[in-house]
Amino acid sequence: TQAVGLVGWRGMVGSVLMQRMRDENDFSLIEPVFFSTSNVGGAAPAWADGAPALQDAYDIEALKKLPIIVTAQGGDYTTAVYGKLRAAGWTGIWIDAASTLRMKDDAIIVLDPVNRPVIDAALARGVRDFVGGNCTVSCMLMGLGGLFRNGLVEWGTSMTYQAASGGGAQHMRELLTQFGLLSGEVAGELADPAAAILDIDRKVLAKQKDAALPHEHFGVPLAGSLIPWIDKDLDNGMSREEWKGGAETNKILGRGPGFDAPAIPFDGLCVRIGAMRCHSQALTLKLTRDIPLDEIEDLLRNDNPWAKVVPNTREATMQDLTPVAVTGTLTIPVGRLRKLAMGPQYLSAFTVGDQLLWGAAEPLRRMLRIALG
Ligand code: HSE
Repeated sequence: TQAVGLVGWRGMVGSVLMQRMRDENDFSLIEPVFFSTSNVGGAAPAWADGAPALQDAYDIEALKKLPIIVTAQGGDYTTAVYGKLRAAGWTGIWIDAASTLRMKDDAIIVLDPVNRPVIDAALARGVRDFVGGNCTVSCMLMGLGGLFRNGLVEWGTSMTYQAASGGGAQHMRELLTQFGLLSGEVAGELADPAAAILDIDRKVLAKQKDAALPHEHFGVPLAGSLIPWIDKDLDNGMSREEWKGGAETNKILGRGPGFDAPAIPFDGLCVRIGAMRCHSQALTLKLTRDIPLDEIEDLLRNDNPWAKVVPNTREATMQDLTPVAVTGTLTIPVGRLRKLAMGPQYLSAFTVGDQLLWGAAEPLRRMLRIALG
């Protein structure tokens, strides 16, 4: 077994990661060393039999002893520690959930069911930085990998429906608080079947616009609304989330700058909605040729064990293609598959993924397994 440093294991992504690692028995392969930014010297989690007391996550000398470090602590931590650690001569493997290092030339974005050859080639040439992709990108590629990896996508556009969890734990709480306050505002009217719906609507809107409705995390109400902007404003009309969609999709596929294969134009519009932890996306793909729909479905379902084709019917869609149906599972359903009116090379698709699982934790624990050899 190898010693593995774990940082940020108590946050939302970290907790999901720890649970997945326990479920898959990953801890039988490693000697975990838990780090903390706030509770140095505290006890390691009880389930990690015999792990040493929590070490200081900013102690470069302590970190340097580990051949592998996995962090879900966030981008500020990576910015604060990664450079110093490498400058101190550390040559271990850094596995990170944060976006900080993703687009660095010699960092690999890990999503092994989609880009295992890229990961293996990188390990062979001594690459040491492996970073989980943007949640929306990872979930999309797990679902649509079969088309992208077979060179069948000429270009694509993605319209996203992103859950509150993408912002963080506090965002999920804020959304639920808003839902509760809005509902409470009209509890009397809801209990009265004769109450006028337009009165209810007016009261709800007044509550949504009430400056006292908690909104510090999202900036504006999300409950009963949506926010068509995610992450920073890049001052070119694009949000950073939209930029990631194109840049990371291509980097994962080994295309675009630094690779031999040209980038696939991939762009779209990212929207925050009031879902809890599943990101959904409506895709329009221009295929490189007219492929029959049943062949497309076979390619998708045979690409990896998690992609699941949902028949394009109302009933199957409602049962299987929603955030509620997918949350807590590794399944990536892909449905609403049909050729669009624009022509036989234009495909419509809809996909849903748990952004804490394939969108964050799962690619990291799988990379750890690959690194352990
Ligand atoms: N940027 C994502 C979101 C989070 O805000 O939904 C995970 O990459």
